Amino acid sequence: MAVLGVAGFALEVPNLDAGLAFYRAAGLVPDVVGDRATLSCPGGQTPCVTLVRAGTRMRLHHVTLRADALTEMAARVHAHGGKVVDAPAGFDANGLWVSDPHGALFHLVELAPEPVPPTGPRFAINAPGEIVRVRQSAMAPSGSYPPPRPRKLGHVALFTPDVLASVDFVTEAFGMALADRAQDVVAFCCARRSSDHHVLAFAKSPGIGLHHASFQVADPDEVGRAGQALANAAGRGHWGFGRHTIGSNFFHYIQDPWGSWFEYYSDMDFIDDHALWTPTVYGMEDAMANWGPPVPADFVHNYQAEGGQ
Ligand SMILES: [Fe+2]
Repeated sequence: MAVLGVAGFALEVPNLDAGLAFYRAAGLVPDVVGDRATLSCPGGQTPCVTLVRAGTRMRLHHVTLRADALTEMAARVHAHGGKVVDAPAGFDANGLWVSDPHGALFHLVELAPEPVPPTGPRFAINAPGEIVRVRQSAMAPSGSYPPPRPRKLGHVALFTPDVLASVDFVTEAFGMALADRAQDVVAFCCARRSSDHHVLAFAKSPGIGLHHASFQVADPDEVGRAGQALANAAGRGHWGFGRHTIGSNFFHYIQDPWGSWFEYYSDMDFIDDHALWTPTVYGMEDAMANWGPPVPADFVHNYQAEGGQ
């Protein structure tokens, strides 16, 4: 009776080529048909990014969530201020299409989770009193690493004019749960069972829109290495390498061609049973990061709602 995870998101973009170049450099695998491109993680079976050429500025079209018991969910959507709507033109009519109380569009689908990709060598750290790596370099020469390899889309963070109302909606209507939040400015929601600390997050803004989409990589090294490479390739803003307090993940954010953000992450907290987890309300000093470089000036600017560019 609930959302189980995030499966993808779709953007309307003015320039398909710019989007393809960005996500290709990020390590995703494209498939282009006419005015539409889908992109998957290497080895993934279901595309996690859809780009549709339309309009003059980027707009979040919808977020796709993996869920079960959709019929029961439809009744709860109406009871909590959302609407079940028709499938938009050009998109699958399967599952449930929902407009939330702020007009953000979600596609809920019964979909098997992506297979877990094979793991590489364990990330081994020599710690005080605990030597686990002997006569062995942790690092290979910098030019010898393969291209970045995102393992999965882990979470999507959305702008909303009312963070707590958005949390109420996804907890009551979608059966999700609040993991943690920082005041009413940012909140992180998980599935109730066997979930990354957050699969859907909300950040306060004058309107709806995409703040960032986050992809898991193998380990903190790949976060730093892939983040630096994508920042160099994209040529816009970036923020990282750092570590969040909320969720504990290492991060590196890179600005996409339209001002939103792409995140590589590693080592996020995991909640096996939300009934055994106590959400924390953090102060604003922990809303962004535990440590990291200075935050870019437009990190929480909603280009979709507030303009600019
Ligand atoms: Fe994130």
